[in-house]
Amino acid sequence: MIRLRSLPVAVALAAALAPALPALAFDYVGAAACEECHAEAVEAWRRSPHARAEVSLGEKAKEPACLTCHAPQKKKGLEGVTCEACHGPGGAYKAEFVMKDPELARAVGLVEPTEKQCLVCHDASSPSLEPFRWAEKRAADDHWSAEWKRRGKQPKGAAAPRSAEAGGKPACPAAG
Ligand code: HEC
Ligand code: HEC
Ligand code: HEC
Ligand code: HEC
Repeated sequence: MIRLRSLPVAVALAAALAPALPALAFDYVGAAACEECHAEAVEAWRRSPHARAEVSLGEKAKEPACLTCHAPQKKKGLEGVTCEACHGPGGAYKAEFVMKDPELARAVGLVEPTEKQCLVCHDASSPSLEPFRWAEKRAADDHWSAEWKRRGKQPKGAAAPRSAEAGGKPACPAAG
């Protein structure tokens, strides 16, 4: 049998296999494993209903039928609706060199969440009386703006930043 001597080899192999094996299982690692690099996101998530979703279950906290949405990775010892319930299991993509390569990160499990990920749980069987409105709910779940601000990343479709030096003209996007 083949022995994998290094993580880079394992990751490269996983990346090569991923398209052929869409069901390839990656490990769930929990929010603490993201904190070192995404401190703002983890902090915002901890204050969010998702982090506390298990607490809402009260005496039903052990019911598997409730945990599927309120703590889907409970069997791995992870509480609430974790990062990875939306972003995909992070065992392979959390390595820094993978994270810096968006294509590789996606090949080994990173998901850029869209409405589809939300509807797995925010479906007709959830107690909400209102239909799920993606733009609104996404905004209510914001845990990325602080990080974007630090990194100077602009939201998609936003107006170009205005710099004082440029006399209020939009900054040149190529200047990065
Ligand atoms: C060792 C540091 C590190 C760890 C640990 C880490 N990340 Fe990242 N992550 C990064 C870096 C660096 C980027 C790229 C940021 C940029 O665009 O410059 C990134 C990007 C991302 C992105 C945006 C990807 C894209 O292309 O749009 C998401 C989502 C993300 N990380 C989620 C996570 C989650 C969830 C975890 C934990 C399971 C995690 N990260 C762990 C460093 C890390
Ligand atoms: C299909 C996924 C799903 C299942 C299964 C599920 N829930 Fe929920 N639950 C949700 C969602 C999504 C919300 C948030 C709804 C909203 O406010 O938009 C929620 C909200 C709640 C709330 C309200 C939380 C608050 O503080 O407002 C309680 C209480 C609750 N669920 C209990 C349960 C119990 C008990 C079970 C098992 C019998 C269960 N849920 C099963 C998805 C689910
Ligand atoms: C309920 C689903 C959900 C959960 C839980 C969640 N995220 Fe996110 N995350 C999103 C969505 C949606 C976006 C915005 C994606 C977009 O539209 O660009 C996002 C954006 C991000 C970004 C910015 C990505 C970028 O393009 O730069 C990072 C970093 C991130 N999340 C990390 C985390 C971490 C770390 C956790 C856990 C502490 C977490 N997320 C939990 C859904 C989720
Ligand atoms: C694994 C299941 C799951 C997924 C996936 C999920 N949620 Fe949730 N969400 C919940 C549960 C459960 C609650 C109720 C938490 C509680 O107990 O208060 C909730 C609550 C919320 C709330 C606060 C209550 C409300 O309805 O206003 C928002 C906002 C929200 N989710 C947005 C999102 C968005 C946006 C996505 C997709 C990017 C998403 N969720 C994906 C399970 C999920």
